[in-house]
Amino acid sequence: MAAEVIAIASDHAGIDAKDALKTVLTEWGYEVLDLGPNSAGSVDYPDFADALTTAIGEGQAARGVLLCGTGIGMSIAANRKPFIRAALCHGVTDARLTRQHNDANVLVVGARTLGIQTRKDCLETFLNTEFEGGRHQRRIDKMS
Ligand code: RB5
Repeated sequence: MAAEVIAIASDHAGIDAKDALKTVLTEWGYEVLDLGPNSAGSVDYPDFADALTTAIGEGQAARGVLLCGTGIGMSIAANRKPFIRAALCHGVTDARLTRQHNDANVLVVGARTLGIQTRKDCLETFLNTEFEGGRHQRRIDKMS
């Protein structure tokens, strides 16, 4: 079976954290679609949120990960697309509940607000928690 593709992108504040999560994803057996940036210069987070959400919209990946300093800018930018449910998570409880209740398809984590282990734990929980459906599907349908 082909490995699931996970898209990932950041801004300059999140590039080191992005590369660390990319390594982890590869170790876990995922194929990573790295949408940049690939160098440390200052960039604008909306450009990279747009690249990742466009890739999801085109079906290149079903799920993605975005990082910036706080995760807030990336969350705001990503959620402008109606098919994106991007969740800014600060710990595994956020990551678990946003999968169970919101069927989040993009995990957003802060590079300046969280430690590497917390980001990794959020990612693992995000990837391995199923959506509960039912009343939660009805609520999602109201946003579609
Ligand atoms: C970049 O300095 C910073 O503003 C950005 O990474 C992010 O935190 C915005 O929400």
